[in-house]
Amino acid sequence: MRRWIGAVVCTVGLLPGALTAEELRLSVPEALEVSGLAQYLVPRFSLKTSVRITRVGPGEASEMQLTSGGTAVFQGPAQRWGLEHNGDPRAVRFLDWLRSDVGKRTIESFTAQDGTTYSAELTAAKVEIEVSFDGDSVRGEKLSLSLCGRCHVINESNRMNGMGSTPSFRVLRGFSDWDRRFANFHLLNPHPSFTQIDGVTDPFDPSLPPPIVPVELTVDDLEAILAYMSGVSPADLGAPLQLQ
Ligand code: HEC
Repeated sequence: MRRWIGAVVCTVGLLPGALTAEELRLSVPEALEVSGLAQYLVPRFSLKTSVRITRVGPGEASEMQLTSGGTAVFQGPAQRWGLEHNGDPRAVRFLDWLRSDVGKRTIESFTAQDGTTYSAELTAAKVEIEVSFDGDSVRGEKLSLSLCGRCHVINESNRMNGMGSTPSFRVLRGFSDWDRRFANFHLLNPHPSFTQIDGVTDPFDPSLPPPIVPVELTVDDLEAILAYMSGVSPADLGAPLQLQ
């Protein structure tokens, strides 16, 4: 508890003389307190609006809560975060700010000491990711081998077949945002020129036929591949990974 005291004292110190405003408390889950995101956002909001917010621990009495539920406000490395509140107009204002362009830019300008960042773009593609681990991982392995295995080393069984310059699936699994990359692989080079996802991608431009036998799959297939990937152990390269 002690680590909250500093925040409380400091906030009270900043209150305007009138002191009529009731405290507006934001309960912050451990993960967002440790990363420093909450501490980063609150004063930036207060500066713009002169609404003061006190951060409290999870489960403590509060007017608003950052949680895995509520209205989605940003996406962290492992999950999506939302804001719940009791209808207090200042809490509504905080929510509006988080979802405004300024708020989104503020969220995205933050980097934790360990490199963790948060995305404020909660697009439909990202919603798909969340359900995608329900896919059939056994089918996902077969699909990975048949569709992706002609370039990527998927696992031991096609170790000799991948193309040297192409990252293996275990290496790709090492990225903290591997799920986002896989869910959007059809948008990431070199795939757009040869990939067709049923009902997702536009047909190939007839004047630019795919240079190789196209990779054709359904959203269901991609979810199966994501389900398989979620169980793959990342390659340990001992250093942060970088693609060109
Ligand atoms: C014709 C070869 C080829 C096929 C087939 C292929 N890929 Fe790739 N893929 C590549 C290459 C080359 C790269 C590395 C691109 C780079 O380094 O910028 C890559 C990179 C990736 C990345 C990382 C992209 C990024 O920028 O973060 C993902 C994810 C990926 N592939 C998924 C897949 C999946 C899933 C399939 C099968 C459904 C697949 N690929 C099929 C060649 C291929």
